[in-house]
Amino acid sequence: MKVLVIHTSPNHEGLTAACAAAAAEGARAAGSEVEEVRLNDLGVGLCQACNNGWGTCRTEHECQVEDGFQALHAQTCAADALVLVTPVYWGEMSESAKAFTDRFRRCEATRGEASCLAGKYVLAVAAAGGSGGGMITCLASMERWINHIRARVWDLIPVNRWSREYKLTAIREAAQALVLAAR
Ligand SMILES: Cc1cc2nc3c(=O)[nH]c(=O)nc-3n(C[C@H](O)[C@H](O)[C@H](O)COP(=O)(O)O)c2cc1C
Repeated sequence: MKVLVIHTSPNHEGLTAACAAAAAEGARAAGSEVEEVRLNDLGVGLCQACNNGWGTCRTEHECQVEDGFQALHAQTCAADALVLVTPVYWGEMSESAKAFTDRFRRCEATRGEASCLAGKYVLAVAAAGGSGGGMITCLASMERWINHIRARVWDLIPVNRWSREYKLTAIREAAQALVLAAR
């Protein structure tokens, strides 16, 4: 059992990082192997909507824009479960999270039920460290992404500065429970 935790903030020591660490800790406590990735270090650029809208993502289920995406796409597909943690920016995912999830969705949603994450659990966490607003709209778009790639929502957890301590406990326990259920 391998859980991939993707952390999508440029800040290595903020709320997003703390949420990702809590998820990794919970998954390890349940006996899972865990891989932790800081997306902003990987050079994953934007979708180029090749050829007026669709490129090889639709036909070959691979992205033709060559950068850090290909390795992370493969690493994500090889995981048994995914934890995706984003800071809330303007009520949405971070730019890096959006770039990765957009490209991943094009490659995998176009496989339908053969998506590499089909049936696998995803735990989505939205960390709002500013006003504390926008967590729900952010999680709504993460939920849509999970549905498009035919994965399964394990949980959608909103976190803000005030809820930090008890939500870190909840994230740890959610990851632990996910591993126990998925094994
Ligand atoms: C461009 C930008 C937009 C943001 N929008 C929101 C927001 O809509 N709601 C909110 O609560 N915080 C917002 N914030 C604050 C971040 O959610 C907060 O800094 C969060 O903790 C970032 O994660 P970090 O702790 O990993 O840096 C925004 C921050 C930035 C940089």
